[in-house]
Amino acid sequence: MQPSQPIGIFDSGVGGLTVANAIRQILPDEQMIYFGDTFHLPYGDKSADSVKFYSTRISEYLLSLNCKLILIACNTASALAWEAVSETVRGKSLAMNVIDPVIDEVAGNTKIKRIGVIGTKGTINSGTYKLKLIQKNNRLDVRSLATPLLVPMIEEGFIFDDISNAIIRNYLSREELQGIDTLILGCTHYPIIKQQIARFFDFRVQIVDSAVIVAKRLRKLLRENNLLNKDSENPVHQFLVSDYTEYFEIIARMFFEGDIRLQKIDLWSHS
Ligand code: DGL
Repeated sequence: MQPSQPIGIFDSGVGGLTVANAIRQILPDEQMIYFGDTFHLPYGDKSADSVKFYSTRISEYLLSLNCKLILIACNTASALAWEAVSETVRGKSLAMNVIDPVIDEVAGNTKIKRIGVIGTKGTINSGTYKLKLIQKNNRLDVRSLATPLLVPMIEEGFIFDDISNAIIRNYLSREELQGIDTLILGCTHYPIIKQQIARFFDFRVQIVDSAVIVAKRLRKLLRENNLLNKDSENPVHQFLVSDYTEYFEIIARMFFEGDIRLQKIDLWSHS
Protein backbone atom coordinates (compact mmCIF):
# COMPACT_ATOMS: atom_id res chain seq x y z
CA MET A 1 0.00 0.00 0.00
CA GLN A 2 1.08 3.56 -0.70
CA PRO A 3 0.40 6.79 1.28
CA SER A 4 -1.02 8.38 -1.88
CA GLN A 5 -3.94 5.92 -2.06
CA PRO A 6 -7.35 7.30 -1.03
CA ILE A 7 -9.31 6.60 2.15
CA GLY A 8 -12.69 4.92 1.58
CA ILE A 9 -15.51 6.07 3.85
CA PHE A 10 -19.11 4.93 3.95
CA ASP A 11 -22.39 5.57 5.69
CA SER A 12 -26.05 5.10 4.83
CA GLY A 13 -26.37 8.77 3.89
CA VAL A 14 -25.10 12.19 4.86
CA GLY A 15 -24.14 11.30 8.46
CA GLY A 16 -20.63 10.13 7.66
CA LEU A 17 -19.95 13.52 6.10
CA THR A 18 -19.56 14.85 9.67
CA VAL A 19 -16.61 12.46 10.03
CA ALA A 20 -15.29 13.17 6.52
CA ASN A 21 -15.37 16.88 7.33
CA ALA A 22 -13.26 16.37 10.49
CA ILE A 23 -10.82 14.21 8.49
CA ARG A 24 -10.47 16.91 5.88
CA GLN A 25 -9.55 19.41 8.59
CA ILE A 26 -7.16 17.16 10.51
CA LEU A 27 -5.66 15.39 7.49
CA PRO A 28 -5.90 17.93 4.64
CA ASP A 29 -3.57 15.96 2.38
CA GLU A 30 -5.67 12.81 2.35
CA GLN A 31 -7.93 12.06 -0.59
CA MET A 32 -11.32 10.60 0.36
CA ILE A 33 -13.83 8.52 -1.54
CA TYR A 34 -17.15 8.79 0.26
CA PHE A 35 -19.99 6.36 -0.39
CA GLY A 36 -23.50 7.23 0.87
CA ASP A 37 -25.80 4.22 0.56
CA THR A 38 -28.88 6.41 0.13
CA PHE A 39 -30.67 3.58 -1.68
CA HIS A 40 -30.85 1.62 1.60
CA LEU A 41 -31.16 4.49 4.06
CA PRO A 42 -31.87 4.25 6.98
CA TYR A 43 -29.69 1.37 8.16
CA GLY A 44 -30.98 1.74 11.71
CA ASP A 45 -34.18 -0.22 11.06
CA LYS A 46 -32.63 -2.97 8.93
CA SER A 47 -31.70 -6.48 10.09
CA ALA A 48 -28.10 -7.21 11.07
CA ASP A 49 -27.81 -9.51 8.03
CA SER A 50 -28.87 -6.74 5.65
CA VAL A 51 -26.48 -4.21 7.19
CA LYS A 52 -23.65 -6.78 6.94
CA PHE A 53 -24.50 -7.46 3.30
CA TYR A 54 -24.56 -3.77 2.35
CA SER A 55 -21.40 -2.99 4.33
CA THR A 56 -19.28 -5.81 2.91
CA ARG A 57 -20.38 -5.05 -0.65
CA ILE A 58 -19.54 -1.36 -0.26
CA SER A 59 -16.18 -2.26 1.31
CA GLU A 60 -15.37 -4.55 -1.64
CA TYR A 61 -16.26 -1.72 -4.00
CA LEU A 62 -14.06 0.77 -2.13
CA LEU A 63 -11.22 -1.77 -2.16
CA SER A 64 -11.63 -2.04 -5.94
CA LEU A 65 -11.02 1.73 -6.04
CA ASN A 66 -7.65 1.10 -4.40
CA CYS A 67 -8.44 2.52 -0.93
CA LYS A 68 -5.69 2.09 1.67
CA LEU A 69 -8.19 2.18 4.52
CA ILE A 70 -11.92 1.53 4.84
CA LEU A 71 -13.66 3.63 7.48
CA ILE A 72 -17.18 2.65 8.52
CA ALA A 73 -18.50 6.15 9.24
CA CYS A 74 -21.79 4.76 10.49
CA ASN A 75 -22.49 3.58 14.04
CA THR A 76 -25.16 1.10 12.94
CA ALA A 77 -22.78 -0.61 10.51
CA SER A 78 -19.95 -0.33 13.08
CA ALA A 79 -22.17 -2.12 15.62
CA LEU A 80 -23.61 -4.77 13.30
CA ALA A 81 -21.03 -5.31 10.56
CA TRP A 82 -17.58 -4.55 12.02
CA GLU A 83 -16.43 -8.20 12.09
CA ALA A 84 -17.78 -8.82 8.57
CA VAL A 85 -16.07 -5.72 7.17
CA SER A 86 -12.79 -6.49 8.98
CA GLU A 87 -12.87 -9.94 7.44
CA THR A 88 -13.52 -8.54 3.94
CA VAL A 89 -10.73 -6.00 4.23
CA ARG A 90 -8.11 -8.14 6.03
CA GLY A 91 -4.79 -8.37 4.17
CA LYS A 92 -5.91 -5.86 1.52
CA SER A 93 -6.16 -2.58 3.40
CA LEU A 94 -6.73 -1.19 6.91
CA ALA A 95 -10.17 -0.91 8.52
CA MET A 96 -11.68 1.31 11.19
CA ASN A 97 -15.06 1.78 12.82
CA VAL A 98 -16.47 4.84 14.60
CA ILE A 99 -17.37 3.19 17.91
CA ASP A 100 -14.05 1.93 19.34
CA PRO A 101 -12.23 5.31 19.26
CA VAL A 102 -15.11 6.89 21.21
CA ILE A 103 -15.13 4.09 23.79
CA ASP A 104 -11.39 4.54 24.33
CA GLU A 105 -11.82 8.30 24.69
CA VAL A 106 -14.58 8.26 27.31
CA ALA A 107 -14.07 5.03 29.26
CA GLY A 108 -10.96 6.29 31.06
CA ASN A 109 -12.41 9.68 31.95
CA THR A 110 -12.95 9.55 35.72
CA LYS A 111 -15.15 12.67 35.69
CA ILE A 112 -17.86 10.78 33.82
CA LYS A 113 -20.31 8.98 36.13
CA ARG A 114 -23.59 8.58 34.27
CA ILE A 115 -23.32 8.50 30.51
CA GLY A 116 -26.13 8.44 27.97
CA VAL A 117 -25.87 6.99 24.46
CA ILE A 118 -28.37 7.80 21.73
CA GLY A 119 -28.40 6.07 18.36
CA THR A 120 -30.48 4.12 15.90
CA LYS A 121 -32.47 1.05 16.92
CA GLY A 122 -29.82 -1.16 15.31
CA THR A 123 -26.99 0.44 17.29
CA ILE A 124 -28.79 0.62 20.65
CA ASN A 125 -30.43 -2.82 20.46
CA SER A 126 -27.06 -4.39 19.60
CA GLY A 127 -25.88 -3.31 23.07
CA THR A 128 -22.44 -2.60 21.60
CA TYR A 129 -21.81 0.74 23.33
CA LYS A 130 -23.01 -0.46 26.72
CA LEU A 131 -21.02 -3.67 26.53
CA LYS A 132 -17.79 -2.02 25.38
CA LEU A 133 -18.05 0.84 27.89
CA ILE A 134 -18.68 -1.48 30.84
CA GLN A 135 -15.88 -3.81 29.70
CA LYS A 136 -13.45 -0.89 29.94
CA ASN A 137 -14.91 0.77 33.03
CA ASN A 138 -17.45 -1.15 35.11
CA ARG A 139 -18.14 1.83 37.37
CA LEU A 140 -19.86 3.71 34.55
CA ASP A 141 -23.64 4.03 34.72
CA VAL A 142 -24.57 3.66 31.04
CA ARG A 143 -28.04 4.72 29.83
CA SER A 144 -28.96 4.05 26.24
CA LEU A 145 -31.90 5.21 24.18
CA ALA A 146 -32.87 4.51 20.58
CA THR A 147 -33.89 7.72 18.81
CA PRO A 148 -35.01 6.36 15.42
CA LEU A 149 -36.78 9.46 14.11
CA LEU A 150 -33.64 11.58 14.14
CA VAL A 151 -31.99 10.15 11.00
CA PRO A 152 -35.05 10.48 8.70
CA MET A 153 -35.67 13.91 10.23
CA ILE A 154 -32.13 15.07 9.37
CA GLU A 155 -32.15 13.41 5.93
CA GLU A 156 -35.40 15.25 5.18
CA GLY A 157 -33.82 18.56 6.14
CA PHE A 158 -35.76 19.19 9.36
CA ILE A 159 -32.90 20.60 11.38
CA PHE A 160 -33.43 24.05 12.87
CA ASP A 161 -37.20 24.27 13.15
CA ASP A 162 -40.15 23.56 15.44
CA ILE A 163 -40.54 20.00 14.20
CA SER A 164 -36.94 19.03 14.93
CA ASN A 165 -37.00 20.82 18.29
CA ALA A 166 -40.17 18.97 19.33
CA ILE A 167 -38.73 15.57 18.35
CA ILE A 168 -35.40 16.28 20.05
CA ARG A 169 -37.17 17.48 23.22
CA ASN A 170 -39.41 14.44 23.28
CA TYR A 171 -36.50 12.00 23.09
CA LEU A 172 -34.07 13.78 25.39
CA SER A 173 -36.57 14.24 28.20
CA ARG A 174 -37.12 10.46 28.48
CA GLU A 175 -36.59 8.70 31.80
CA GLU A 176 -33.53 6.82 30.48
CA LEU A 177 -31.45 9.99 30.15
CA GLN A 178 -32.28 11.60 33.49
CA GLY A 179 -29.24 12.80 35.44
CA ILE A 180 -26.62 12.07 32.79
CA ASP A 181 -23.42 14.17 32.84
CA THR A 182 -22.27 13.09 29.36
CA LEU A 183 -24.08 12.12 26.17
CA ILE A 184 -22.52 10.15 23.32
CA LEU A 185 -23.96 10.97 19.91
CA GLY A 186 -23.96 7.34 18.78
CA CYS A 187 -24.92 8.13 15.22
CA THR A 188 -22.85 10.09 12.75
CA HIS A 189 -25.92 12.04 11.62
CA TYR A 190 -26.41 13.61 15.05
CA PRO A 191 -23.52 16.12 15.06
CA ILE A 192 -25.62 18.01 12.50
CA ILE A 193 -28.08 18.75 15.36
CA LYS A 194 -25.45 18.92 18.13
CA GLN A 195 -26.24 22.53 19.04
CA GLN A 196 -29.93 21.83 19.56
CA ILE A 197 -29.06 18.81 21.71
CA ALA A 198 -26.59 20.83 23.82
CA ARG A 199 -29.16 23.60 24.20
CA PHE A 200 -31.81 21.15 25.42
CA PHE A 201 -29.49 20.32 28.34
CA ASP A 202 -28.69 24.03 28.89
CA PHE A 203 -25.11 23.21 27.89
CA ARG A 204 -24.65 21.37 31.22
CA VAL A 205 -24.16 17.92 29.68
CA GLN A 206 -20.93 17.15 27.84
CA ILE A 207 -21.81 16.11 24.30
CA VAL A 208 -19.43 13.57 22.73
CA ASP A 209 -19.34 13.80 18.97
CA SER A 210 -17.27 11.08 17.30
CA ALA A 211 -16.08 13.09 14.28
CA VAL A 212 -12.88 14.65 15.65
CA ILE A 213 -12.09 11.66 17.89
CA VAL A 214 -12.31 9.34 14.88
CA ALA A 215 -10.26 11.65 12.64
CA LYS A 216 -7.46 11.76 15.23
CA ARG A 217 -7.48 7.97 15.63
CA LEU A 218 -7.33 7.66 11.86
CA ARG A 219 -4.24 9.90 11.77
CA LYS A 220 -2.61 7.72 14.43
CA LEU A 221 -3.40 4.51 12.56
CA LEU A 222 -2.08 5.86 9.25
CA ARG A 223 1.06 7.17 10.94
CA GLU A 224 1.73 3.82 12.65
CA ASN A 225 1.44 2.11 9.26
CA ASN A 226 3.56 4.68 7.40
CA LEU A 227 0.55 5.55 5.27
CA LEU A 228 0.11 9.24 6.05
CA ASN A 229 -0.06 11.25 2.86
CA LYS A 230 2.11 14.31 3.30
CA ASP A 231 2.45 15.81 -0.11
CA SER A 232 -0.79 15.96 -1.97
CA GLU A 233 -1.90 19.36 -3.22
CA ASN A 234 -5.61 20.01 -2.63
CA PRO A 235 -6.84 16.45 -3.03
CA VAL A 236 -10.05 16.04 -5.01
CA HIS A 237 -12.55 14.04 -3.00
CA GLN A 238 -15.15 11.81 -4.60
CA PHE A 239 -18.73 11.60 -3.37
CA LEU A 240 -20.63 8.52 -4.48
CA VAL A 241 -24.27 7.67 -3.73
CA SER A 242 -26.37 4.63 -4.50
CA ASP A 243 -29.42 6.83 -5.11
CA TYR A 244 -29.37 10.50 -5.99
CA THR A 245 -31.03 12.78 -3.44
CA GLU A 246 -30.95 16.54 -3.65
CA TYR A 247 -30.54 16.86 0.09
CA PHE A 248 -27.34 14.80 0.03
CA GLU A 249 -25.88 17.27 -2.40
CA ILE A 250 -26.98 20.25 -0.28
CA ILE A 251 -25.40 18.82 2.89
CA ALA A 252 -22.26 17.75 1.03
CA ARG A 253 -21.87 21.29 -0.28
CA MET A 254 -22.46 22.64 3.23
CA PHE A 255 -19.45 20.68 4.52
CA PHE A 256 -17.30 20.67 1.38
CA GLU A 257 -17.97 24.09 0.00
CA GLY A 258 -17.48 24.66 -3.66
CA ASP A 259 -17.05 22.06 -6.23
CA ILE A 260 -18.27 18.67 -5.07
CA ARG A 261 -18.87 16.04 -7.66
CA LEU A 262 -21.77 13.75 -6.76
CA GLN A 263 -21.79 10.52 -8.71
CA LYS A 264 -24.46 7.83 -8.68
CA ILE A 265 -23.10 4.28 -8.49
CA ASP A 266 -25.37 1.33 -9.11
CA LEU A 267 -24.12 -1.31 -6.70
CA TRP A 268 -27.45 -2.93 -6.09
CA SER A 269 -29.00 -3.75 -9.43
CA HIS A 270 -28.70 -7.47 -8.73
CA SER A 271 -29.61 -7.41 -5.03
N1 DGL B 1 -25.17 7.59 10.35
C1 DGL B 1 -25.73 6.27 10.65
C2 DGL B 1 -25.28 5.84 12.03
O1 DGL B 1 -24.29 6.37 12.52
C3 DGL B 1 -27.20 6.34 10.42
C4 DGL B 1 -27.85 5.04 10.42
C5 DGL B 1 -29.12 4.95 9.64
O2 DGL B 1 -29.05 5.05 8.43
O3 DGL B 1 -30.16 4.68 10.25
O4 DGL B 1 -25.82 4.94 12.64
